[in-house]
Amino acid sequence: MAFVRHSSSLKLLLLFSAFLSLSPRNSLLEAAPQVPCYFVFGDSLSDNGNNNNLIALAKANYLPYGIDFPEGPTGRFTNGPNIIDYIAQLLGFDRYIQNFTAALANQDFTRGVNYASGAAGIRDETGIQQGDRISLNNQLLRHSSIVAKIRAIQGTQAADSLLNKCIYTVGMGNNDYINNYFMPAFYSTSRLYTPQQYAVVLANQYSNQLKDLHDLGARKVAILGPGLIGCAPQEVSTFGATNGSTCNEQLNSEVALFNNQLRPLVQSLNNQFPDSNFTLIDIFSISSSTSLAQLNLTAPCCETNPTTGTCKPNGAVCPDRKAYGFFDGYHPTSILCQGLASRSYMRVLPTDADPYDIRQLAMQ
Ligand SMILES: *[C@@H]1O[C@H](CO)[C@@H](O)[C@H](O)[C@H]1NC(C)=O
Ligand SMILES: *[C@@H]1O[C@H](CO)[C@@H](O)[C@H](O)[C@H]1NC(C)=O
Ligand SMILES: *[C@@H]1O[C@H](CO)[C@@H](O)[C@H](O)[C@H]1NC(C)=O
Ligand SMILES: *[C@@H]1O[C@H](CO)[C@@H](O)[C@H](O)[C@H]1NC(C)=O
Repeated sequence: MAFVRHSSSLKLLLLFSAFLSLSPRNSLLEAAPQVPCYFVFGDSLSDNGNNNNLIALAKANYLPYGIDFPEGPTGRFTNGPNIIDYIAQLLGFDRYIQNFTAALANQDFTRGVNYASGAAGIRDETGIQQGDRISLNNQLLRHSSIVAKIRAIQGTQAADSLLNKCIYTVGMGNNDYINNYFMPAFYSTSRLYTPQQYAVVLANQYSNQLKDLHDLGARKVAILGPGLIGCAPQEVSTFGATNGSTCNEQLNSEVALFNNQLRPLVQSLNNQFPDSNFTLIDIFSISSSTSLAQLNLTAPCCETNPTTGTCKPNGAVCPDRKAYGFFDGYHPTSILCQGLASRSYMRVLPTDADPYDIRQLAMQ
């Protein structure tokens, strides 16, 4: 989930959209990707179908999800490609990264695997009121099983040398707020911790998980920070908008405390592991400085279930998906995913991606 606030330059975003539609995928010669592999950890913003067979509310394998995707509904929580698909495209991959089940079925995991799962969190209990989901800890377990397979096929040395060259994106934390801290009826975290304490507890657990990822061979890791959760139409309809804003600024300020932990976390990992490059993709900051004056950010594009914020199966959908920022009550439309991916890959402001953007990570 990633959200945007209204301000400066829509032109910029449109410019990047134009750039993207001309870029690597459509070139005549299929150049090799900039890195041999791309592994994806995350939540619904990154999920490409890992929840399809789970007993879960957080699923998107039905119309109108995928209405603009060539294969139709696949479990991506938006109308077309998601942010990860656009990043893979910018890295020069000629196919999207497969979900865990498909990668196993096709015995194709040396190009990377997508483990992301809607409703999942840094904390194991996060999202439990929505049914099954694959927490970050379980995504890491799945990754260690894939690493073992690659080592068995290629030998440890060749496998590790491959794993060191891959890009890894990890986008977690949104659900530790939406489907945990901001749901006091189901979770006790908001009674146990102040917002500041919770931000620190979450960041500490995240840091340990990122060290585990490093232990499994990751050396080029981009952390996708949380979105402006207080601007999601579903959160605004649940908690109300703050005076003078279309968002709930109280929610945004509590999530900002966690976001503020991530820069020092990245610095500390880079100091601890001099053989590695960790970076923060600051979705909060990108969203705040991206103008989407022409996108409708107050209403979701699809007709949503009022309690979950997801699209109603076969419900109504806005005819012009490029005019909306949110596809459902939480998730950005593909046009917005494309803008976010573009600034993650090649930063516009130094704060977008710090200390590296994904393009620089790929080159190192
Ligand atoms: C994984 O991807 C494949 C191909 O897009 C899709 O058919 C499948 O439903 C997805 N999810 C799972 C759990 O297999
Ligand atoms: C919103 O602003 C109005 C006018 O300034 C004020 O009367 C009202 O109490 C404010 N509401 C909240 C929730 O702050
Ligand atoms: C990125 O990591 C490499 C080691 O893999 C290191 O040599 C390089 O100095 C790092 N970049 C920076 C700017 O720290
Ligand atoms: C956004 O779209 C909704 C209907 O989908 C409409 O009611 C609302 O006026 C639109 N808002 C803006 C700012 O265009």
